[in-house]
Amino acid sequence: MKTNIFVALGVLLILPISCIAYSEPPPNFGPIQNLLYTECLVCHSNDGNSENPQFPRIAGQKENYLVTELKAFRDHKRRDADAFGYMYGPASSLSNNQIHLLAEYFSEQPTATNVDPGSPADMKAGKEIFENGIPSEGVPPCFACHGGDAQGTAMAPRLAGQWSTYIVKQLNAFKNGYRHEATMMPAVAQHLTAAQETDVADYLQGLQKD
Ligand code: HEC
Ligand code: HEC
Repeated sequence: MKTNIFVALGVLLILPISCIAYSEPPPNFGPIQNLLYTECLVCHSNDGNSENPQFPRIAGQKENYLVTELKAFRDHKRRDADAFGYMYGPASSLSNNQIHLLAEYFSEQPTATNVDPGSPADMKAGKEIFENGIPSEGVPPCFACHGGDAQGTAMAPRLAGQWSTYIVKQLNAFKNGYRHEATMMPAVAQHLTAAQETDVADYLQGLQKD
C-alpha cells in the first residue's frame, strides 16, 4: 500500500515537469547544438555563466581568447590538474571549425551580474593592484592590458565577474609554468604573493561591468 502511494506521488511530481520540457523545445544552436548540450553546458551552465566556482565563467569572454584556450586544452598546452581532469576530455575531438563556433557562441552570451564582491579591505587592496600594479616588485597594473573595467581587450581576456578562486588558481598556474600557451602572464604573476593574488581576485570577482 505504502509503495503505491509513493508511485502515485512520483507520477504526479514527474508529469508537470515533463510537460514543461516538451512544450518548450531547447533552442537550436546549429552545428554545435549537441556539443553544447552533452558537454559544455553541464559544467559551464546554460549560457556560460557558471554557478559553481569550480568552473570558470566564459559568457562574454573575448572570442579570440576562447579560441586560443580551447586549442590549448586540445593540444595539452594547459597542464594544471583541472585542465587535465576536466577539459582534456571535452576538448579532445574538437575541430577548428567547432572551436570557432563555440567561441563565437560563448563570447556573445550576456554576462551575469550576480557575483558577490569580496570584503571591503580585499576590494580596496585589490583595486590598488589592478589600477597601479606593485611598482616595487615590477608588477604592472592589470588594467593596462585587461581594460579599465577588466572587460577584456583585443590583447587580454575578460576578468570582470570571474570566480575569485579560479583567478587565484590560474595566477598560480602561470607562476608554476602550467600554462604553456601563455605569452604575458607568467612574468606578470611571478612576483604576486598569495595575499595579493586573493586581493586582486576578490576585486575582479566583484566587478560587474559588461
Ligand atoms: C566536466 C566539466 C567541464 C566540461 C564538460 C567542460 N568544461 Fe570547460 N572547464 C572546466 C574546468 C574545471 C575549467 C578550468 C580548467 C583549468 O583550471 O585549467 C574549464 C575551462 C574552460 C575554458 C577556459 C576558460 C578561461 O577563462 O580560460 C574554456 C574556454 C572552456 N572550459 C570551454 C568549454 C567548452 C566549449 C566545453 C564544451 C566543449 C567545455 N568547456 C566543457 C570544466 C568543464
Ligand atoms: C602585459 C599585459 C597584461 C598585464 C599587465 C596583465 N595581464 Fe593578465 N593576461 C594577459 C594575457 C595576454 C592573458 C592570456 C594569457 C597569456 O597569454 O599570458 C592574461 C590572462 C590572465 C588571467 C587568466 C584568465 C583566465 O580566464 O584564465 C588572469 C587570471 C589574469 N590575466 C590576471 C591578471 C592580473 C591579476 C593582472 C595584474 C596583476 C594582470 N593579469 C595583468 C595580459 C596581461
